[in-house]
Amino acid sequence: MTTLVSCRDLVKQFPGPGALFGRGHPVHALRGVSFDVLRGETLAVVGESGSGKTTLGRCLVRLTHPTAGTVRFNGTDVLTLPPAELRRWRRRAQLVFQDPGAALNPRMTIGAAIREPLLAHGLATGPESEERLAAALAEVGLDASHAARWPHELSGGQKQRAVIARALILGPAFLVLDEPVSSLDVSVAAQILNLLADLRERHGLTYLLIAHDLRVVRHFADRVAVMYAGRFVELAPTHALFDDPRHPYTAALLSAVPATEPGARRERITLGGESPSPLDSPASCPFEPRCPHPQKDARCRAERPELRTVEPQRLAACHFAE
Ligand SMILES: Nc1ncnc2c1ncn2[C@@H]1O[C@H](COP(=O)(O)OP(=O)(O)OP(=O)(O)O)[C@@H](O)[C@H]1O
Ligand SMILES: [Mg+2]
Repeated sequence: MTTLVSCRDLVKQFPGPGALFGRGHPVHALRGVSFDVLRGETLAVVGESGSGKTTLGRCLVRLTHPTAGTVRFNGTDVLTLPPAELRRWRRRAQLVFQDPGAALNPRMTIGAAIREPLLAHGLATGPESEERLAAALAEVGLDASHAARWPHELSGGQKQRAVIARALILGPAFLVLDEPVSSLDVSVAAQILNLLADLRERHGLTYLLIAHDLRVVRHFADRVAVMYAGRFVELAPTHALFDDPRHPYTAALLSAVPATEPGARRERITLGGESPSPLDSPASCPFEPRCPHPQKDARCRAERPELRTVEPQRLAACHFAE
């Protein structure tokens, strides 16, 4: 498979508390993230709240400008695109937000919201935009009559379908899905995931799926990246990661997922301590204070393990990953 999106050494710092008064430290949301998303694959990014998942997704579609590092799309550096080309590129990379309620303007009908990007990009007007709207509605399983409705008249699942239609109407190749089903009931979430899988097939889409729920990831993603405190600590094919996690943080995350196979049982690993503050940057392994690994030693406090290849296709950032 070829690479569609590629980022190297992505760093994002936000002004920290006190910055307004010339004091305080920056918040390190991303501390150097490098990976490729392959054309046609779904790469999931998981990790606890505040680990930097949304910031990463936003950097990839250039809704957030990274402090340092590069983002390439089809080999083109998207951080230095001149305005006209940037506008054209934006059609190719879209973001679907977690909360469909907040993503839709309450004063715009569903049809107007879905059609808005077409008008904003000057791609279609009048009857042609009507046709493309009708096609987009059908694509996501909404009825033509939904176009005249207001967001508050739709269910959560229908709203998320509308948000997906709006992202699709520009003909993107790459979608960042930021927790697309976390606000929905289990059965509705399953329908939306099925829809996203169908659309991926039909249009050859590439997804970066941000998720809290590892059960969602297991059946939907080809590979999984685990984020901890602004870095990837593991990246592996989904089945390999679930069968044999190499980073103790991944193991802890997986231990919290209920087993699906009858008879299978996992020991629940409870992590002590707190996740590291995004304000400081220790030289030790960032996970060391919470790490339950039996072999943990002085090296973990002295040296931060780099994300490295531990076997073909698998990367991990732990001194004991082998
Ligand atoms: N606009 C911002 N200004 C200041 N700090 C920010 C901003 N956006 C994110 N942060 C900080 O960056 C860090 C990473 O946030 P981010 O939203 O990327 O995490 P996340 O993994 O998506 O979390 P969640 O699972 O809760 O959505 C957090 O410490 C957060 O407070
Ligand atoms: Mg987030």
